[in-house]
Amino acid sequence: MRILSGMRTTQRLHIGNYFGALVNWVKLQESNQCYFGAMNWHALTDHFKEPELFYTFTREIISDWLAYGIKPEKSVIFVQSKIPELLELNMLFQMITPLGWLDRVTTWKDSIEEMKQKDAHNVGRYTYPVLQTADIAIFKGEGVPVGQDQVPHLEFSRELVRRFNFIYKTKLKEPKPLLTETPAITGLDGRKMSKSYDNFIPLIAEPEEIKALTKKMVTDPKRVRRNDPGNPDVCPVFKLHKLFTQDAERAQIDSDCRSAAIGCGDCKLKLAGNISSFMAEPLEKKRKYLNKPSELDEIIEHGCTKARAEAKKTMDEVRDTLKWQGRV
Ligand code: TRP
Ligand code: SF4
Repeated sequence: MRILSGMRTTQRLHIGNYFGALVNWVKLQESNQCYFGAMNWHALTDHFKEPELFYTFTREIISDWLAYGIKPEKSVIFVQSKIPELLELNMLFQMITPLGWLDRVTTWKDSIEEMKQKDAHNVGRYTYPVLQTADIAIFKGEGVPVGQDQVPHLEFSRELVRRFNFIYKTKLKEPKPLLTETPAITGLDGRKMSKSYDNFIPLIAEPEEIKALTKKMVTDPKRVRRNDPGNPDVCPVFKLHKLFTQDAERAQIDSDCRSAAIGCGDCKLKLAGNISSFMAEPLEKKRKYLNKPSELDEIIEHGCTKARAEAKKTMDEVRDTLKWQGRV
């Protein structure tokens, strides 16, 4: 199955991106042709006042992918803005998109007020899912490993591709989302971990930063004093122990929390330690990439060249089907 996915270049990646999507990317690349894009046009939709986001996090995000095991010799790693053909397909898709379809996309509908406040109630944000559909279709993506939050976009993409194929007799693939076992993870404040809530743990960070972040985490709200017994089932810290702590240690923490044998401070320190061990090797690898800019440049350039060739091919096919090729 052809795989296409991407992440916006708005921030450092966080552990939610890993457990929600990246862990799947790493697995899928073993037996599928994969395309992974740093989506810097999509970053601008609600961040157009920070044009530097176009590049600031691109190398950072790509080095995170590499550090966690995306292999440039297997997968095509590209930057969205290096594929101009995307804009042509995006334009064709826009022609056939009924406004009502965009109005109904929940990620738009539910964020209208927020977008107005951010002064990002704009056409680009509105048509975000159209460009996302072009990203997928131009690389003939069938499987799209993403986090749960992207499911509404992919429903939109399926319908749009179907409509395009119906109207123009093209044979673009209808994409489907591929979710992980933990598609959504809890953030520092107990809400869903998200860039926009600023409640995330970066995917790669120094132990000191991890310690400081876990210290800020909310715990079982009923556990006020050190002697109060706690309930790990409702505690965000414990939810992260489920991802980072070995079974035996976790079982011990579970019972020590319930009997108040362990305090929240120590519990958080254990978590911080385990997260840092998880990140230790990627942290080293990432340093290597960021210290050798030319190697990273080469990987990105190589990926963009490959991706662009594939995008051109698809656009040629589309123009052929529409009987446009070579005509004025
Ligand atoms: N919308 C995705 C996100 O916010 C990023 C994205 C852009 C994407 N284009 C895509 C994901 C194409 C999958 C396929 O995470
Ligand atoms: Fe949560 Fe750990 Fe405190 Fe229990 S001891 S309430 S699991 S932080």
